[in-house]
Amino acid sequence: MRKHIVAGNWKMNTTVADGVNLAKEVVAAASEVPSSVKLIIAPPFTHLVPVAEVVKGSVVGLSAQNCADKVSGAYTGEVSVDMLVSASCEYTILGHSERRQYYGETDAKLVEKVKLAIAAGLSPIFCVGENLEEREAGRHFDVVAEQVKNVLYTLSAEEMAKVIVAYEPVWAIGTGKTATAEQAQEIHACIRKVLADKFGALADDITILYGGSCKPSNAKELFACPDIDGGLIGGAALKASDFIAIAKSF
Ligand code: 13P
Repeated sequence: MRKHIVAGNWKMNTTVADGVNLAKEVVAAASEVPSSVKLIIAPPFTHLVPVAEVVKGSVVGLSAQNCADKVSGAYTGEVSVDMLVSASCEYTILGHSERRQYYGETDAKLVEKVKLAIAAGLSPIFCVGENLEEREAGRHFDVVAEQVKNVLYTLSAEEMAKVIVAYEPVWAIGTGKTATAEQAQEIHACIRKVLADKFGALADDITILYGGSCKPSNAKELFACPDIDGGLIGGAALKASDFIAIAKSF
């Protein structure tokens, strides 16, 4: 059985002090969430060490938002997978559309990052999703299938078992426009089929999250879909009560 996960991507928001407080609020309310739902928070790099102290011993998991595509050395400004593990991270988001779009993250770089993360013991939360132009041209299934194949098909089954996939249509991120449950479900089913073509029955065990303007008012309908196993939450994850309300929508 695959896991239900609700993960909060804080993006470039909050100071360290605000982030620590937000993490405390999430930990304090986590007992309201059914134990079958895994909660994860992904604060900025600067917050990881103090937030790790807050989530220690709780059910809330800690994720980074990115990692370097190199092991160590002269790569100014980068943060390695070993650094993340030493800061008590268990997960890292990779391939978010904002990184693909604004920081030139390519599939080739993502292959390196995903492999390094897994080798270090992290579970990547690997993001895919089409932009508005691709959706309007009816190319969304092909675009997402290519993103999945270009990176995840390079993995062994053992590596793939560590990956969480997140489908985030770019046109729904931060726009208030959510994919309908039907639109999300059909892409999630497509992603699972693409994974099954390569990894067989393992595809049934892979958690696939939906992300893009997910909020307490629409989470229930989305999470009721057979191939939607949870959410990757942006804006609504910055308010503990909304984040927890989303997680209680299963
Ligand atoms: P919003 O929930 O703010 O649309 O962001 C989604 C997202 O990008 C999560 O990674």
